[in-house]
Amino acid sequence: MGQLDGKASIVTGGGGEIGAAIAKGLAREDSRIAVCDIKAEAAEAVAADIRAGDNEAVSCRLDVTSEASWRDALCEVERRLGPLDVLVNCAGLFASDSYTIADIPLEEWRKLHAVNLDGTFLGIKVAVKAMGTRPGSIINIGSIVGSFGARSGPAYGTSKGAVRALTVQAAASCIAMGSNVRVNAIHPGYVLTDASLASALKKLGSRERAEKAFATRSPRNRLLHPEDLVGAAVFLASDASKMINGAEILVDDGLSTQMPGDSFGREI
Ligand SMILES: NC(=O)c1ccc[n+]([C@@H]2O[C@H](COP(=O)([O-])OP(=O)(O)OC[C@H]3O[C@@H](n4cnc5c(N)ncnc54)[C@H](O)[C@@H]3O)[C@@H](O)[C@H]2O)c1
Repeated sequence: MGQLDGKASIVTGGGGEIGAAIAKGLAREDSRIAVCDIKAEAAEAVAADIRAGDNEAVSCRLDVTSEASWRDALCEVERRLGPLDVLVNCAGLFASDSYTIADIPLEEWRKLHAVNLDGTFLGIKVAVKAMGTRPGSIINIGSIVGSFGARSGPAYGTSKGAVRALTVQAAASCIAMGSNVRVNAIHPGYVLTDASLASALKKLGSRERAEKAFATRSPRNRLLHPEDLVGAAVFLASDASKMINGAEILVDDGLSTQMPGDSFGREI
């Protein structure tokens, strides 16, 4: 019997690379899975993969920026899978260009915050209400760039920093309202996905060069892959973490232990 046997989970952004890895990882631990994404076909492809492995999975179109979409999706998921136990807020948008704080258009700022911050807030709001007094686990996918200045631009970093703050505030609010829902966050370092590689690819031209440049951002000179996030997600979703609330797990191979400007152990 898997660690998540009997639990129903939603993974948003489940049609994307990290979301798909997490959805499949939770399914391997016997959770029933709803793969939700604004790209309905991508979500269904991941759900079909999970079903092919003999686990229960459904897919659902969800626009995380819309409260009405959240309500519809949750209603459909609970009708098909039963009451919700776990929500992984993984839907996210990266910066579309390397804007500085002096030239970023307000629309770009709002677009990133609408998905990364408002989408996470709405998911927590709707899920906490649906979970009532039952125990539940909500896992927000932030980023280490929510804590450090990064070249990915001011809007992405700010939206992910706000996800850190939201995680603590939501956990505290659940306690105050007598809810048994826990809210925690996972902050990945640089994970090799097409979406995160896109800007390096644009600058460097070839995938090989972009991947090499990506690896040098890691203290051990190695790349994180979506699968590397699964262990932390399973742990936070499971009862093994039942006393952990408002916490953060950094999955960054130790990148955030390094002094800014350090050479990550390479010869200077
Ligand atoms: N890849 C990295 O290096 C990295 C590092 C830190 C954090 N993250 C975070 O991990 C998450 C997944 O990243 P990824 O690299 O797998 O990217 P990805 O683009 O492969 O996945 C993101 C998914 O979110 C979906 N999405 C976007 N807007 C949506 C909306 N309005 N409603 C519902 N779904 C929506 C997209 O369709 C996509 O499937 C993001 O939140 C990202 O910020 C990624």
